[in-house]
Amino acid sequence: IGAKLALTPPMGWNSWNCWGLNVTEEKVKSSAKAMVQSGLADYGWNYVNVDDGWQAAERSPSGKLFPNSKFADMKELGNVLHAAGLKFGIYSSPGAKTCGGFLGSLGHEKVDADTYTAWGVDYLKYDLCSYSDNTAGDTTLFAQQKPYKVMGDALKLQHRDIVYSICQYGIRDVWKWGKAMDGNLWRTTEDITDTWASLRDIGFSQADRSAYASPGGWNDPDMLIVGQVGWGENLHPSNLTPYEQYAHISLWSMLSAPMLIGCDMSKLDAFTLNLLKNREVIALDQDTLGKQAIRTVNTGGIQVWEKKLSDGGLAIGVFNLNDKYCRYNLRLTRKKNAVNIIRDVWIQKDIKKNVGSISLQVAPHGVKLLKITGS
Ligand code: GLA
Repeated sequence: IGAKLALTPPMGWNSWNCWGLNVTEEKVKSSAKAMVQSGLADYGWNYVNVDDGWQAAERSPSGKLFPNSKFADMKELGNVLHAAGLKFGIYSSPGAKTCGGFLGSLGHEKVDADTYTAWGVDYLKYDLCSYSDNTAGDTTLFAQQKPYKVMGDALKLQHRDIVYSICQYGIRDVWKWGKAMDGNLWRTTEDITDTWASLRDIGFSQADRSAYASPGGWNDPDMLIVGQVGWGENLHPSNLTPYEQYAHISLWSMLSAPMLIGCDMSKLDAFTLNLLKNREVIALDQDTLGKQAIRTVNTGGIQVWEKKLSDGGLAIGVFNLNDKYCRYNLRLTRKKNAVNIIRDVWIQKDIKKNVGSISLQVAPHGVKLLKITGS
């Protein structure tokens, strides 16, 4: 595993932000169906990840873990997903229990990795909850790394490519060692919720991590909070304003973040679909150079993030963290004898040509997302 997997950040859907522990096989299958029928699959959204809540209460006498009664047959589920051209993700924890109190993989890492392979699993999200019960308060780097190494080694023995998602919330700067554990992505923060404060505090605190992202290993600021979310109860439209949702998808694309939709896929409205089907925005996230954006301006509630692209262009996100409209003058240094082109990525139009600066009006909690060539 590792080297040749997730050369661009994984894109797909995960059950948690919508169904929480109430996830069922039927809900997973219908989400997968909606992924295809809505056309999202054609835009690169292809992982269908079952989060916490699928596990039986006890292991079999041989130590194998089976699903609970909400899932009939995991191998068959894998087959259904693969037949639809999608990929199958699953969830576990290195502790005795997962965060939701279900059985974890402690002491059964190899048998669980074998089981995932037998089911056709393509992606494992490996959480941390309850593992600390076994380390007797040992917060050393070694103690943090150990469970991820054990599962990473078990995955390496599989004759199957399984993307390894380390869900460890950023303790002891996981971005510095996630790759050494064979991780393909690693959560850098606590769980996200659908509020501007949560989005802002997580998204805009990623600036010191840019150097650690590269093809095959990505910083993960947690899943998308667009569409109908609810974590298993009170399903509701995301509390983010449309401007905040543009900022969310823009920032995640600039951060080369894994993009996992977390909403009820049967209730995708036109706005959410448009948000998730903009080829030019997705192309920034999926750019093969794999350079996470760096922050170059952070003043008066305006942040400018810049991302180098494989075609020599530069993506620029001008984010307005203020509660009111703000104007920002972006100055550009033109390459000698070159004509620069400034393209608004969301509206997919060139908006200026051959200029030394551009004045931008940015919505409250919103963004202007640009692609610049020749500057
Ligand atoms: C943790 C993770 C979440 C989710 C839950 C499941 O909180 O950070 O993303 O996987 O556990 O219990």
